[in-house]
Amino acid sequence: MKSKSGGKILPVLLIFSLLYFYSCKHDPELTGIVIPVDTTGNNNSGTTGLACSKDTVYFVQAVLPMFQSSCAMSGCHDAITHKEGLRLDSYAGIISGGINVSNPTNSKIYRVLVSTGEEQMPPPPATAMSSTQLSIISKWISQGAKNNSCIESACDTTNVKYSTHIKLLIQNNCQGCHSGTSPGGGINLATYAGVKATADNGKFFGSISHLSGYKAMPQNRNKLTDCQITTVKIWINQGSPEN
Ligand code: HEC
Repeated sequence: MKSKSGGKILPVLLIFSLLYFYSCKHDPELTGIVIPVDTTGNNNSGTTGLACSKDTVYFVQAVLPMFQSSCAMSGCHDAITHKEGLRLDSYAGIISGGINVSNPTNSKIYRVLVSTGEEQMPPPPATAMSSTQLSIISKWISQGAKNNSCIESACDTTNVKYSTHIKLLIQNNCQGCHSGTSPGGGINLATYAGVKATADNGKFFGSISHLSGYKAMPQNRNKLTDCQITTVKIWINQGSPEN
C-alpha cells in the first residue's frame, strides 16, 4: 500500500459496490418498473389499436433503451461512484434527479448526459450520446417526461437507410456496450466500418434474430421488435450501404 488512505478507500468502495449490487437486485421499486414484454413490441407488432403519434417521444420505445444500453456497459456498480447516485435504468431512476419540463436541457438527467465532469453519463470510455439522442431526450422532457409507450401497428419500411434507421437503432440499443476501448466481444458498433463488418459476416443479423449459433443481442435485454429486425434485414439485403 502506498498510503494509509489508499488502504482505506478500497474496502469502502468494495462495501459500497456490494451494497449497490444488493440494492439492484432487491429494490422493489426497480423490479416494479421492468418493462413487460408486451409493451416493447416484442413479437406483437400489429396487436395494439393505438396509432402512435409521430410527434410524441415514447419513453418505453425511444428513451429507456438508450439508458439501458449505456448503463449496462458501465455496470450497475458504477452508478454509485457518481456523486448524485443516479440510476439510469428505470423510469423512476431517470426522473429522480428532477425534470424541468419548461427548460428540458436544465433537467438533471439531461445535464449529466452533456456534462464532461465527474457526473458524466455514460461514463467514459463509453461513447457520449449523440446529438440526435439528446434531442430525443429533451423533446421527451418537454412533452412532460411521461412513462408512456406506443407500438407502431404497421412497420414502415420505405426508404430504409443507415443514416436514418440503422445508426439510431444501434445508438439506442447497442452502442453502450459496443463502443469505447473494450467493446463487447471486441465489436465496435460506433463506427460504420464496425457495423459493416458484422453485417457482412452474418453476426449482426444472427445475433439480433436470436438464430442458433449466435449470441443473442442486445445482451440481457428484450429482443428488438419484429419491425426493427425487418428494417435491419432490408438494409443488409441492400448490401449494408453507408447511405
Ligand atoms: C449489455 C451489453 C450489450 C448490449 C446492449 C449489446 N451487446 Fe452485443 N455483445 C455484448 C457482449 C459482452 C458480447 C460478447 C459476448 C460473448 O462473447 O460472450 C457481444 C457480442 C455481440 C456480437 C457477436 C455475436 C456472436 O455470435 O459472435 C454481435 C454481432 C453483437 N454483440 C451485436 C450487438 C447488437 C447489434 C446490439 C444491439 C442491437 C448489441 N450487440 C447489444 C454486449 C452487448
